[in-house]
Amino acid sequence: MKACIAGIGSYVPARVLTNADLERMVATSDEWIRERTGIRERRIAATGEACSDLAVQAGKRALTAAGLAATDLDMILVATCTGDYPLPATACLVQHQLGATKAAACDLSAACCGFVYALSVADAYIKTGMRHVLVIGSEVMSAITDWTDRNTCVLFGDGAGAAVVSASDGERGILSTHLRSDGTLCELIMVPGGGSRTPPSEKVIDERLQYIKMKGNETFKVAVRSLEEIARSTLAANHLRVEDIDLYVPHQANIRILKAVMERLGLPIEKVMLNVERYGNTSAASIPIALDEAVREGRIKDGSLVMLGAFGAGLTWASAVIRW
Ligand code: UT7
Repeated sequence: MKACIAGIGSYVPARVLTNADLERMVATSDEWIRERTGIRERRIAATGEACSDLAVQAGKRALTAAGLAATDLDMILVATCTGDYPLPATACLVQHQLGATKAAACDLSAACCGFVYALSVADAYIKTGMRHVLVIGSEVMSAITDWTDRNTCVLFGDGAGAAVVSASDGERGILSTHLRSDGTLCELIMVPGGGSRTPPSEKVIDERLQYIKMKGNETFKVAVRSLEEIARSTLAANHLRVEDIDLYVPHQANIRILKAVMERLGLPIEKVMLNVERYGNTSAASIPIALDEAVREGRIKDGSLVMLGAFGAGLTWASAVIRW
């Protein structure tokens, strides 16, 4: 028994925030952002549009693609670091909105690796008897972005992507997942205020501690190293060579990180899905949005061998290999 991706879908908010818009907000330039990150524009949720709203739209599209009803679902996992509320879990709001009356629902917090981590959880549940698990990566990063901090505000965007993971007894399916963490590097990317260590207070607001802080340059170096390491061990564990991969779908954080990884692995650009230019870094939503676009563009077909690679706050890093 394997867990296969039976349907995929994504949703991004309508509002586009361009680099030219950011030039009017902070001391930056379109040229700097494009050269250092590869990003031209990103999507921003409307006022009142929350994580679950994006997740529901992506989830509906994935269910339609899979030809399933919400009532077929055994479980809903929402990977996010920007849920609607500290509690309840955003997955429960999605469960209600979709009418998934038989489904268990919970959130998974692994930052930009959330979708790949959740995929591995779904894989394990399918192997132990569940039939259909909806895995969603959904983020409203704009809610935790400090729009006065040019070091971070140019990087992030909002969106959601979803995959229906179903039991299958053919050749198709998730061949492996690899998950890693290193909490010694937890301070590289962090929202320092608003949690139980530093609960919300006037001080938190005054010091803008409710927003994401990142040591970009250090994160960059670790990202390249960890994406290369996990790709190599994933290929070795599956007795694959890099040439066997039809499409590498990495977390979309920075084009320079991905170019460095491609160079180290010897992966040609034609075999890499890139859309950071249009969405920026959408954290847990980035890989499922990229997967959905790759399927719709015909870059992933039945039988394609797809490798995912993610890294993010924690630090965490993760991979999966899927026979589509
Ligand atoms: O998914 C979460 C994982 N996070 C990431 O993947 C992020 C990884 N890191 C990065 O993508 C890059 O480190 C950044 C894009 C964040 C920064 O690029 P960098 O080449 O590492 O630049 P830097 O941090 O070394 O900064 C270079 C300069 C600094 O000025 P000085 O000190 O050299 O005068 C910054 O103040 O660029 C300045 N700078 C900016 N200038 C114009 C920083 N942000 C901006 C900006 N516009 N938006």
